[in-house]
Amino acid sequence: MNTTIFETLKEEHDRILTFCGYVRNTCANCIESQSVHVAEFRSMVQFIRDYADGHHHRKEEKILFQEMLDRLGSVAINLVQHGMLVEHDWARLLVSDLEKALDAYEKNRSTKNMLDIIANAVGYCNLLERHMEKENTVVYPYAQRNLDPGVVQRMTELAEKMNREDFFMERYSDTVRK
Ligand SMILES: [Fe+2]
Ligand SMILES: [Fe+2]
Repeated sequence: MNTTIFETLKEEHDRILTFCGYVRNTCANCIESQSVHVAEFRSMVQFIRDYADGHHHRKEEKILFQEMLDRLGSVAINLVQHGMLVEHDWARLLVSDLEKALDAYEKNRSTKNMLDIIANAVGYCNLLERHMEKENTVVYPYAQRNLDPGVVQRMTELAEKMNREDFFMERYSDTVRK
């Protein structure tokens, strides 16, 4: 059987989970060394915006969640609109606060500014880990059970098209292996 959009999205979750492990390790190193390597955190912010949000969340929002909202009624509205989309926005807020904390640390390398960097970075990981678990165990299975196979096929083709268009992906092969 060919890979469907659901398997593709779950593979992307695995990469983001690996990335979250790397973020936690980097934060632990900051505490031990009492310093922050700002450029490393800036590249994390870039990865989140390009891959986790720009590539993965965009695919969910433009393809899967849109079909669920169009076809699956009030359950989809609760799961997607009041759940997953709110959490995507919350994740964007944490990343924007992480960026502000990095700017503040560059001006003043205080322990308080370091704490804000770590709090936002780890907060992002905590949120995404729970979010992806809910998608893997509740949201995707519900969509798989309730959307017609023809709709799943069309979503899969759209997801493949989006993957081909996001040519920047190779840039991150090192980041997600750390
Ligand atoms: Fe999501
Ligand atoms: Fe996801």
